[in-house]
Amino acid sequence: MNQSGRAASQTAVLVCQGRAAADGRAAPARFADPVAVQVLRAAERTPVDEVRAGTPPQGWRARTTYESVRACADVVVPRTAAIDEALRARVTGQLVILGAGLDTRAWRLHELAQTDVWEVDHPASQRDKRTRLADAAQAAQGPDEADRAAVGLPAMARSVRFTPVDFAVDDLGAALDIAGHDPSAPTTWLWEGVVPYLTRDEVRATVAMVAARTVPGSALIVNYQTPSVKAAAGRLLTRVLGSSVTSGEPWRSLWRPQQMAALLGEYGMRVVSDDTLLALAHAIGSPARGRSSLQSGRVAVAESH
Ligand SMILES: C[S@@+](CC[C@H](N)C(=O)[O-])C[C@H]1O[C@@H](n2cnc3c(N)ncnc32)[C@H](O)[C@@H]1O
Repeated sequence: MNQSGRAASQTAVLVCQGRAAADGRAAPARFADPVAVQVLRAAERTPVDEVRAGTPPQGWRARTTYESVRACADVVVPRTAAIDEALRARVTGQLVILGAGLDTRAWRLHELAQTDVWEVDHPASQRDKRTRLADAAQAAQGPDEADRAAVGLPAMARSVRFTPVDFAVDDLGAALDIAGHDPSAPTTWLWEGVVPYLTRDEVRATVAMVAARTVPGSALIVNYQTPSVKAAAGRLLTRVLGSSVTSGEPWRSLWRPQQMAALLGEYGMRVVSDDTLLALAHAIGSPARGRSSLQSGRVAVAESH
C-alpha cells in the first residue's frame, strides 16, 4: 500500500490482536506472543479478550471486529510459528524486519541476544509503534519510572534500530546505511505480511535492494499471498460488512510460488522451503477454520550461497 501522508497501519494492529488472542490458546508448544497484548491500546484489547473468552459481543460492528480478530488469529499462529522457527535456525547477527508493524520478536526471542535488529516501516506506523512501546513500558513499570519508560520496553535483541522507510518512495539501502546496517556481513531478512500491500514493481525494487545488501550466509523469509478467488471474496465481504481495517490498505500484488521463486532466483536467492499456512497449521495442530485464506497465504525461505 502506498501510505504517503497516511495514518499508522491498521492491519498491523489487527495481526497484533490476532497474536494476542492466540497467545497461550492455540498450539502453545509451537506459538507464543505474550508481548503482543502489551502494545495494544485498551480499546484494541476488548475484542482480544472476547476472542480469548469465546464470548462474541452483541451488535453488528463489534461482532465484525470479533470475527476479524478470531480469523486473523488462525492465520497468524502458523505464520508466526513457522517464521520464528526459520529465524531461530538462521541467527546471523543482523536481522532486518521489513514492514515490521507491531512485530514483537525483538522483545520476545531470547535467541536474538547477539543480534542487532533493524525495524523498517512506514514512518507513520513506526511513530505509532514507538509510542506504544513507551506506553507499555510505563504501564509495566509504574508512573515513577517514566524516564526509563521513555526508551520503551526492554528488548531481548542486542539492539533495535528504528528505520523509517516508505517502500513506495524511499531508498531502503540509504536508510539502512544511515542506521548502521553492514551489507558485507550476513543478514537475515524478514518480510511478513507486507508483500500484498506493495505493487509488483515495489516488490521487485525491494528484492533488488535486499539482494544488493546480501552476502552468502544470508537468508530472506518472506510471507506472501497467492491469487485466490475465495480469499478475495472473503476480504470483500469483510469490507462490505463494515470493517474499516482492510479498506484503507488494499492488496496490490499476489504471487504464485513459481513467480516468487523466479523473482528471488533472479537476484541470487534460492528458495529452500515454501509452504501454505494451511500445511503449516496442520503441522503444528493449530485451528484451520478459514481454509481458503490459509491456503492462499505462504511462508517461503530463500538462502543466498
Ligand atoms: C499487515 S502489517 C504487517 C506487520 C508485521 N510485519 C506483522 O506481520 O505483524 C503491514 C505492514 O506493512 C507496512 N507497509 C505497508 N506498505 C508500506 C510501505 N509502502 N512502506 C513501508 N511500510 C509499509 C505497514 O506500515 C505495516 O506495518
